[in-house]
Amino acid sequence: MSRGDVLLSVEHLSKTYRGQGGRPAHKALDDVSLELRASETLGIVGESGSGKSTLARVLVRLTGADSGRADYCGVDLLRARGADALFLTRQIQIVFQDPNSSMNPRRTIRQALLEAARVAEHPPADIQGSLARMMEAVGLSREKLDAYPHQLSGGQRQRVAIARALAVSPRVVVADECVSALDVSVQSSILNLMLERQRELGLAYVFISHDLSVVHHMSDRMIVMRSGRIVEAGNPSEIMRNPQDPYTRELIASVPGSGFRAA
Ligand SMILES: Nc1ncnc2c1ncn2[C@@H]1O[C@H](COP(=O)(O)OP(=O)(O)OP(=O)(O)O)[C@@H](O)[C@H]1O
Ligand SMILES: [Mg+2]
Repeated sequence: MSRGDVLLSVEHLSKTYRGQGGRPAHKALDDVSLELRASETLGIVGESGSGKSTLARVLVRLTGADSGRADYCGVDLLRARGADALFLTRQIQIVFQDPNSSMNPRRTIRQALLEAARVAEHPPADIQGSLARMMEAVGLSREKLDAYPHQLSGGQRQRVAIARALAVSPRVVVADECVSALDVSVQSSILNLMLERQRELGLAYVFISHDLSVVHHMSDRMIVMRSGRIVEAGNPSEIMRNPQDPYTRELIASVPGSGFRAA
């Protein structure tokens, strides 16, 4: 597999959340099609409620879809069971916005990383010894291995969440608002570290954020979502320069200092 080969192919994906307690049903994904290629970053931007996390959750099989197709290297992602499901877990990892909700408060960082490393297809021979390298790769000292999540700062926890995803040796990382809760300087150091690991490991990212400037900075290609639909897709700089969809223009105009005015 070389850079540019299609890893993930999604076609006409739709997902409706059934209304509960008298609330109406809600179409969170509406005919979404996209491709993710090896070693690239596909950015996904859109306002709150546009379906970004729903898409992320479908890609890592935390949520099912109602219709459409999703294929990862020839494996049907929507129907995978058994060995295929394990293969997908090894290949596609996710990092969430809030590591507090995705980390077990009663387990040390060491335990969390060990568990992840054991999921890898080829766990490191010296698995304990490799933990220090995993920490180093995300800019943390090995002393933190025996800390519990609550003993770390938000930025440090997010670095651990990235280390845990990478410990599985995936080919794809879905990052769902992974730096949105952090202050700007911590954001940029974590984004830089993600770019470094990407270059080193040849990872592909699905990089999700409501922050257009961050998505623009990170992505090789970009998708703009609104109300569960893709309203625009293409080269990020091209889209920023010459947005075709009125909603994209609004998004760009809302970025401070963009100098862009929605018509
Ligand atoms: N489990 C659920 N049950 C019912 N409705 C849901 C569920 N999860 C999400 N939704 C609805 O689906 C829509 C899309 O939600 P989603 O979380 O995918 O949006 P998002 O783009 O990630 O938003 P944000 O930027 O706020 O994270 C929203 O209207 C949301 O209320
Ligand atoms: Mg979300």
